[in-house]
Amino acid sequence: MRISRLVMTSTRWAFNTRQWEPTVSDWVKASQCIQSEEKERIGKFVFKKDAKSSMIGRLMLRKMLHRRTKIPYADIKLGRTEKGKPYLMNNTPEGCEKLSFNVSHHGDYVVLAAETFTDVGIDVMKLETPVGANSISDFFHTMRRQFTQDEWVYIKSGKTEQDQLGNFYRLWCLKESYVKALGVGIGFEVKRLNFLIKSDLPSVGQTIDTTQLEVDGQFTIHWTFEETLLDNHCIAVAETSSNPVKNPFFEVLTFNQLLEDSNPLSDPDQKYGEEFIKKPERPKLQR
Ligand code: COA
Ligand code: MG
Repeated sequence: MRISRLVMTSTRWAFNTRQWEPTVSDWVKASQCIQSEEKERIGKFVFKKDAKSSMIGRLMLRKMLHRRTKIPYADIKLGRTEKGKPYLMNNTPEGCEKLSFNVSHHGDYVVLAAETFTDVGIDVMKLETPVGANSISDFFHTMRRQFTQDEWVYIKSGKTEQDQLGNFYRLWCLKESYVKALGVGIGFEVKRLNFLIKSDLPSVGQTIDTTQLEVDGQFTIHWTFEETLLDNHCIAVAETSSNPVKNPFFEVLTFNQLLEDSNPLSDPDQKYGEEFIKKPERPKLQR
């Protein structure tokens, strides 16, 4: 029963962009599979790392939508809400009326979560010292207004600075996953959210859903948060359901798998691929 629900309703995918070194021809092929306005947006990124993450996010969305809705690949039309959240513009086939999906990218991974019956938001964060921060305590100071007093107690309960940073990112992901499920984006006062941590993060590959949420001091019962560690990245998935799937498995896809069943939306654009290859991988200071 649990397995059939997982297959029918939940998708959890991940892609490692650090290990992916696209050739000109890979990049041209990928660019043919996304809408022209997205191709243009991605072309403007200065660094390969950002372009790769955004491209993979789009390819993940299109693959998942084609698979779930059976809409022909090239006919899938994604729009963005005023706040930037991608949504499906096509008429939704029966059974897919409530399909909800979201992607996130940070560090080495792009991740996607999709659900058939519940709203969903996802966030991933690499557990590393933030680029440009002088020290972890300075970084925490800058972020002091984003977390409640109880959340700071949890963050500071870590024995070492690295543990504290792990706790910080855990809460960060939880907050972002909720904000992203709502689709409200920047401007939401995340200090209104108080996450109640009930257990440690699971070991790599396992998922827990014990964390609870108060919004403006009110306990919420219709939200569930799945938390997973993938290598040294934490992932939170927020769902409007009090009965989620247990231990959803993040399937790590390859580039070929992402393009399986795809169909080009446009003619090959060799220049686009050549411009990508010339970009630097990432800013010099970034790991
Ligand atoms: N709601 C949900 N998803 C959105 C979105 C929105 N309003 N706007 C964009 N997205 C999707 C897109 O697919 C986007 O990918 P793209 O940029 O390649 O198109 C993806 O989410 C980006 O997610 P992520 O990689 O996790 O980026 P982010 O964490 O930098 O941005 C947003 C998250 C988009 C919600 C952004 O509005 C934001 O930064 N909010 C900050 C809220 C905050 O104060 N957080 C502090 C937590 S302590
Ligand atoms: Mg994020």
